[in-house]
Amino acid sequence: MSRTVVLATRNPGKIREIAAVLGALGISVIGLDDWPDVPEPAENGATFGENARHKARYYANATGLWCLADDSGLVVDALDGAPGVFSARYASDRCEPAANREILDKANNAKLLEALADIPEEKRIARFVCHLALADGDKILLEAKGAIEGQIGFEEMGANGFGYDPLFFVPEKGCTTAQMSPETKNDISHRGKAVRQLAEQLGKMPPGTQTN
Ligand code: IMP
Repeated sequence: MSRTVVLATRNPGKIREIAAVLGALGISVIGLDDWPDVPEPAENGATFGENARHKARYYANATGLWCLADDSGLVVDALDGAPGVFSARYASDRCEPAANREILDKANNAKLLEALADIPEEKRIARFVCHLALADGDKILLEAKGAIEGQIGFEEMGANGFGYDPLFFVPEKGCTTAQMSPETKNDISHRGKAVRQLAEQLGKMPPGTQTN
């Protein structure tokens, strides 16, 4: 039986990355475009897991479909784990409330570079973390996690991806995640790992469990 899930995000970068992995496994993904009037839920959780479970339940109830939510972010050791769950809005204090994603991303990266200005290369250790939750109404069916280790660079490099990608240097690849092809990033990224893990669990669910 073919499976369809609605993705609880309007971030086109995330939709592309998750749809590429699930699509290759025969799972169809639809975005939230068919529900333009559903307001975004608050993301007040203290952890990526709490936020992912909350978003998954919220949109599963709003759409009546199984919903896959991702909460992800950047964890920087020298900043005691910041920006962490605040990654998307790290520099919102420097932006107009109506600032779009591109402007916020630029401001986030500038703020991160400033915060790490005095930190030497060997201490700029960071990781991207992703927590996924799949919900059917209020019930959490599956969860999965992924992470990728790297270092924060001294300047932006590369134009692919989104968010902090131009600053996230992966030593084994010798480049930032913004300098990788989408396929290479998906192969090694926090989100790619979490989505493949979740898809594997989804594939093991008994036939007939899927209701939509
Ligand atoms: P969320 O929509 O609350 O999960 O926001 C996650 C934020 O973390 C994004 O807006 C980005 O700033 C950052 N982030 C998460 N994953 C990535 C990635 O793969 N590349 C770059 N930035 C990311």
